[in-house]
Amino acid sequence: MLRRSFLAALAATALAAGSVPAAAQETVKIGLIIPLTGPFTTTGKQLEAAARLYMQQNGTTVAGKKIELIVRDDAGRAENTARIAGELIQNDKVSFLAGFGLTPLAMATAPIATNSKIPMVVMMAGTSIITERSPYIVRTSFTLGQSAVIIADWAAQNKIKKVVTLVTDYAPGHDAEKSFVDQFKSKGGETVESLRVPIQNPDFAPFLQRVLDAKPDALYVFTPSGVGAILMKQFVERGLDKSGIRLIGPGDITDDDVLPGFGDAAIGVVTAHNYSTDHPSAKNKEYVAAFKKANPGMRPNFASVGGYDGIHLIYEALKKTGGKTDGDALLTAMKGHKWESPRGPISIDPETRDIVQTIYIRRVEKKNGELYNVEFASFPDVKDPVKAQKK
Ligand code: PHB
Repeated sequence: MLRRSFLAALAATALAAGSVPAAAQETVKIGLIIPLTGPFTTTGKQLEAAARLYMQQNGTTVAGKKIELIVRDDAGRAENTARIAGELIQNDKVSFLAGFGLTPLAMATAPIATNSKIPMVVMMAGTSIITERSPYIVRTSFTLGQSAVIIADWAAQNKIKKVVTLVTDYAPGHDAEKSFVDQFKSKGGETVESLRVPIQNPDFAPFLQRVLDAKPDALYVFTPSGVGAILMKQFVERGLDKSGIRLIGPGDITDDDVLPGFGDAAIGVVTAHNYSTDHPSAKNKEYVAAFKKANPGMRPNFASVGGYDGIHLIYEALKKTGGKTDGDALLTAMKGHKWESPRGPISIDPETRDIVQTIYIRRVEKKNGELYNVEFASFPDVKDPVKAQKK
């Protein structure tokens, strides 16, 4: 009796002081919202596998708190993402929102992060403007401009004078197109046609016929991760691989996840990107081996490092706040954070909360019977060029 009333009094005091019961206080929840069904399933699988690998390697206790990952499928639909984010905050009391496999999914959730003051870690989406949509957003993926500008310079320096661009018709495609066209023009190159293909059920064939007719030196393509496989198949079916027209772009088209299935027609495709499974650092070799061991039959792609580094950033921010989950304190802890990722050295720009990273130029080659993006040039500390231009 005595003991019960003592406990009741203790609980009442705790409630009166506005604090929560000890058990609830000790778990910090991360809501990971990703596409695990629908056309962007490969992205979701990569993000989840990498997040789980990071937690398996680094334990689930940080700054005295137990870390719990709650994974939810949004099927790549923005209305689902925003609804799930609301539920995770209200019902599950998450301290972090993470994932965001596509730009519209991140954009739909940004106001929720702002209203709830909960850090939102964008692990995949790549449109420049996303980080400007909420002061609680940080990005561990990339922006399309980062790779587009680098490949535009490479093209201009490598006898490519006339280009047709072909992008998926939504925000990151528009960024990929504009950054490339502007940069290529500034280096004396000419874009003779800019084509856009719908995001839903893309059929590249009619566009590829127009490319054949225009006879450019190169076709510059952006499609979101996974979709490159359809493009490559139609590129070969239409005979573009034998036309002398080079295929170039940001590395989304030669995504390491689907590249092994492309066939030899992909050999020689040159892209610029932030990550290759083949990146030769010790850190990456260890990462690829651990990822493959934990996920038989899969190889890690650029989505995976966004997920892996996103969880790293969350862990490090919690260490810096001593386990405190105040959104503003966590954002302060994340700004300016620097570390070595499997992709190479990266940091979070303290001004823009966007990622700063090395961009590599790579060529598809066959190594031990498997296709890889083999890096041959690197450009360190690349910031989002779209934001840099606005200044
Ligand atoms: C995006 O929607 O922002 C996105 C998705 C997949 C990519 C690149 C960008 O490969």
